[in-house]
Amino acid sequence: MAFTRRRLLRNGWGIGAGLLTFAAGWTSWELLRPLAANGAGGKISLGDPSNYADGTATFVNEGRLWVVNAGGELFALSQKCPHLGCRVPFCESSGRFECPCHGSVFDIGGEWIAGPSPRGMDRHPLSLESGVLFVDTGASEDGPDHGSKNYLSPAKGPACIESA
Ligand code: FES
Repeated sequence: MAFTRRRLLRNGWGIGAGLLTFAAGWTSWELLRPLAANGAGGKISLGDPSNYADGTATFVNEGRLWVVNAGGELFALSQKCPHLGCRVPFCESSGRFECPCHGSVFDIGGEWIAGPSPRGMDRHPLSLESGVLFVDTGASEDGPDHGSKNYLSPAKGPACIESA
């Protein structure tokens, strides 16, 4: 009986540890896995352009993209890092995009600041129809070259990743 209980406890710990390892691995993979391609491929309504205030980045899950207002100019930036395709989050504290995979950093307009990315963040075309903003996720253009510094400004505060 004691043997059975001890064995049951040992097996329980093993199963628990296995589940924890699996959950940790799954979470890391979901956060960092490269995006194969922008899966949306269609036109998405983004609503009233005035919803996007200057200096903000709004994530649009349906298109896997960021709508940003960089000094009054709106852009739709692909979430996929131009380096190796990781998902690039916006760091509210620094006001910059910071890729957690290899440390590429981009300004609010998606222009390259630092890191191994070969260019700025890729952009999807925006259009205005009867006062409503639309993004075409089926089309994109490469992000700006390293020399583009139209929206560069000092970081608002601390970076979200160590190398930024
Ligand atoms: S995938 Fe973003 S810096 Fe490498």
